[in-house]
Amino acid sequence: MMRQVQIFDTTLRDGEQSAGINLNVEEKLRVARQLARLNVDVIEAGFAIASPGDFEGVRAIAREVKGVTVCSLSRALKPDIDRAWEAVREAESPLIHTFIATSPIHMQYKLQKNPEQVLEMAVAAVRHARGLCPQVEFSAEDATRSEWDFLCRIFGAVIAAGATVINIPDTVGYIIPTEFGTMLRYIKEHTRGIEKVKLSVHCHNDLGLAVANSLAAVENGVDQVECTINGLGERAGNAALEEVVMALKTRAENFQAATRIHTEQLHRTSTLVSTLTGKPVQHNKAIVGSNAFAHEAGIHQDGILKNRMTYEIMTPESVGLSQTQLVLGKHSGRHAVKNRLEELGYTLSEPELDRAYEHFIELADKKKEVTDSDLEALVRNQVAMM
Ligand code: KIV
Ligand code: ZN
Repeated sequence: MMRQVQIFDTTLRDGEQSAGINLNVEEKLRVARQLARLNVDVIEAGFAIASPGDFEGVRAIAREVKGVTVCSLSRALKPDIDRAWEAVREAESPLIHTFIATSPIHMQYKLQKNPEQVLEMAVAAVRHARGLCPQVEFSAEDATRSEWDFLCRIFGAVIAAGATVINIPDTVGYIIPTEFGTMLRYIKEHTRGIEKVKLSVHCHNDLGLAVANSLAAVENGVDQVECTINGLGERAGNAALEEVVMALKTRAENFQAATRIHTEQLHRTSTLVSTLTGKPVQHNKAIVGSNAFAHEAGIHQDGILKNRMTYEIMTPESVGLSQTQLVLGKHSGRHAVKNRLEELGYTLSEPELDRAYEHFIELADKKKEVTDSDLEALVRNQVAMM
């Protein structure tokens, strides 16, 4: 029996925190509308107290975008929580997300507080937030470098104070998948009341492990994964939504878990976010990169033409692309060239095809990609003269 895993999208909060990104309210609304089409479960729309623009963005999304939970981040401080509530209160399903750091290094140097003071602040924040909002998420910032017993104690205390979601961030992208699994099992076994709340993870990509860690968390029973479109986020970014979702879909029998994401909207969402943020998607990025479904090697193209599953583990249509791209270049085989020529309306005899292929390879050696017009010119000038 497949269980549901919620997708909590934080493109508009953690993603927008990436260096060099700044979206205005209208741009945030456009992204949020598209996230709703994608069918994410939660949109973290911003950090309401951070700036008037952030507040307006969260409020506009809360007012307009329906069918999804809308959330604002807040530190574990009353003014932050009040501002977050003001921003999300008109949402169909509002959520306040409050956080405080729990690792020794963050408590000592950043907060300059001892663990007992941090625990008290967390409980007070959650109690206050819960007095305002029916859904409250608590995050232990830098959880993966925190002491596990302290985490269990603080989580138990905030659950008793009314938290409905407990989030475990790998804030600095430090953990590795096997260790994360062990940690999550420990927390589940040693936290009072954990079975009453949703368990969530939020992984950063400093070691390139954000998606692997998120998937390890799903294997260990978490209910929610926090992620961003195109993997945007602080420093090396967050777990890429499209990768988490397509891994769960493609290997569903292994995970026994499904999301509600309309995967055919993934490509469109990625393009919109890339356009509005001005952050291009690397060409070989999994799922949404321009080469993710492009095949150039002759052997691969030949295989694809016979059966797409020889070199594709998911269809381009499933992520919203119209078709597989066979890029004609110096590695392309005769079969791929013949196929493309037929699509362009040229049916050549075998000797004509031999000649066309010979000229094609000469041209491909000089150019990165041989286009349709190159092929047409080649047939007109070289083959038709035979
Ligand atoms: O990475 C992090 O710890 C965060 C929290 C605020 C959830 O973004
Ligand atoms: Zn984060």
